[in-house]
Amino acid sequence: MRIFRTKVASGDDFCDTGLKRCLSAFDLTVLGVGAIIGTGIFVLTGIAAATQAGPAVILSFVVAGLACAFAALAYAELSSAVGGCGSAYGYSYAAFGEFVAWIIGWDLILEYALSTAAVANGWAGYFENALTAMGIGLPASLTMGPSLGGIINLPAAAIVLVLMTLLAIGVKESAQSNAVMVFVKLVTIAVFIGVAAFNVHPANWHPFMPFGWSGTGPQGKPVGVFAGAAMVFFAYVGFDAVSTATEEAKDPRRDVPIGIIASLVFCTVIYIVVSGLLTGIVPYRVLNVSSPVAYALQILGYRWASALVATGVIAGLTTVMLVLYYGLTRVFFAMSRDGLLSPFFARVNPKTQTPVRVIVLCGVLIAVTAGLIPLGDLAELVNIGTLAAFVLVCLGVVMLRIRRPDMERPFKMPLSPLFPVLGALSCGALMAFLPALTWIRFVVWLALGAIIYFTYSYHHSKLALSGE
Ligand code: ALA
Repeated sequence: MRIFRTKVASGDDFCDTGLKRCLSAFDLTVLGVGAIIGTGIFVLTGIAAATQAGPAVILSFVVAGLACAFAALAYAELSSAVGGCGSAYGYSYAAFGEFVAWIIGWDLILEYALSTAAVANGWAGYFENALTAMGIGLPASLTMGPSLGGIINLPAAAIVLVLMTLLAIGVKESAQSNAVMVFVKLVTIAVFIGVAAFNVHPANWHPFMPFGWSGTGPQGKPVGVFAGAAMVFFAYVGFDAVSTATEEAKDPRRDVPIGIIASLVFCTVIYIVVSGLLTGIVPYRVLNVSSPVAYALQILGYRWASALVATGVIAGLTTVMLVLYYGLTRVFFAMSRDGLLSPFFARVNPKTQTPVRVIVLCGVLIAVTAGLIPLGDLAELVNIGTLAAFVLVCLGVVMLRIRRPDMERPFKMPLSPLFPVLGALSCGALMAFLPALTWIRFVVWLALGAIIYFTYSYHHSKLALSGE
């Protein structure tokens, strides 16, 4: 059946596509760190520690990090072998055929768009706090959407439109501003670690695992180390975005695997250190606030460090949005180039060498979403969508090794098929710890995608039109 026919993937996606090749392995690693460290460590660590895992949130980070490590190795192999800017979408096209590719592309659109909108909401919270501290706070109706009693979250929508302009101007410019903000974010974390390291009270780590490994909390919500892992998984979302920059990498077969693995390892170490220190300096119960890292420093009496960290977080969250948004436009671009979405979007602007139409369409939609829908509603869908993509990428490694054993693989995932299967199982297991309502919403989104596929994409697919 045609919908299961795979796309030829033999390095043809490494050819010149009109996108500007200017990113080195270092740029890609910075891009990854820019996307990874954000709301997860600065906000969700506190919430997970207080409500789901206690000080054992450090183990939640280890569990989620392990699942991501398998997925990262799978991404590294497929990005070096298959290439293309479509990330898991492109790899699924090669491994499983068009229909699965469409579904995963549709899923990635959800992941990247909603995580950008969710982080924009978190950013807006910090930004509004800063404005209020300066005595120029906005009216409440302009800081939240209708479901919370306001009109629109104006700062959240505005920051997305600013990033839209930055991305439309050009990749290198964006990568450079990204690098500056990543530096600020790392200084912020260094300040926290420097202060916290001298203020640990080991008594705060007892009891270490107050919610156990797995259980049910208030309102039937899952708790324990594993449920905490399913939540803090959000902190790792973004390393996969490095693979969407394949067509803009100078030497993609070498640099993209380095960028993916280096950024994930770097961030995992930081998460383990920060979460260990955070639960060591204050009792985990007080961390259920919107800015736990800054709040903990405030409790210790370090007001200057708290203000510095809050400022750094504003910069840090900006980089996260930038890279996720960038990833979204590239997946969109790849899908429209294959004919699965309207070709109107596949055009690269000759002047800026960026897909301006996709950037503007996505920017407007994300800005509206970020302005009208609250953080909680947006965030819960991101993890399930990302984990589903990771499962397919891990299985894609096995599938392609069987279907195309002779394919050139500059980077090979070790211990295949054991590692890819472990990756699929661990990501699938984390999905099982997400609430039922999240599953329902996710299935509705996929059903909508299936309808679009059979009414539009199936008939316009380039693969179909080429008669392959
Ligand atoms: N990993 C990103 C964050 O934590 C999405 O904000």
